[in-house]
Amino acid sequence: MNQDQLKQMVGEAARDEVLKLAAGQILGVGTGSTANCFIDALAPYKDHFAGTVSSSNATTERLLKHGFQVLDPNDVTELPAYVDGADEIDPAGHMIKGGGGALTREKIIASMARQFICICDSSKQVPVLGNFALPVEIIPLAKGVVSRELEKFGGKVTLRLAKNTRADLNQTPSEPFVTDNGGWILDVAGLKIADPIQMEAQINQIAGVITVGLFAKEKANILLVSNSSGVERLLL
Ligand code: 5RP
Repeated sequence: MNQDQLKQMVGEAARDEVLKLAAGQILGVGTGSTANCFIDALAPYKDHFAGTVSSSNATTERLLKHGFQVLDPNDVTELPAYVDGADEIDPAGHMIKGGGGALTREKIIASMARQFICICDSSKQVPVLGNFALPVEIIPLAKGVVSRELEKFGGKVTLRLAKNTRADLNQTPSEPFVTDNGGWILDVAGLKIADPIQMEAQINQIAGVITVGLFAKEKANILLVSNSSGVERLLL
């Protein structure tokens, strides 16, 4: 079974999970290739929900294409659940997210939800977070000072570049990746995150940081994880 099939399988399991929620509520929807599988699987059942709240422009576009209603988070006070993927998840449900650059809106929507349902394949499960470079969204003019502060955690800091920028000129991408919020992303490689709650709080304190892609306070409550023998449901 390849990774696309594993993503599709867990997307379908997440559809079945959210269809257990009472009808007429609003659902938080994440970003990424696994979240896309979930959106596609849920599309025939969209009328079960009064609407959705989206975590990125890309997700909004996909939801609208399927005919879901997408609401402004400012018009919503509470969500029964938020469904999203992860780049890494530890046994307690702490996650690294932001590989797709949507970490800030993802964390905002997750904070509105009673339950975070994380969907991934088993390659994302790790004993300790940090193999995946930790994304940190920043205000562009703070790149220098935030990079120096992040280096003190012991990792290697790299400014994320846009993919395919100037592809027509056959050049190496050289422009910063810009988030939906106009921020830039610093990726911090080589960390061993023994205490995700503490590190999340410390990085949040650095002036110029918009969001750190450590989801420790907004951790997963339910994990649906796929492998070649099926989908496992874990309460965290
Ligand atoms: C985007 C995210 C994604 O949830 C994360 O990158 C996982 O993506 P995928 O499902 O494509 O592996 O945090 O900002």
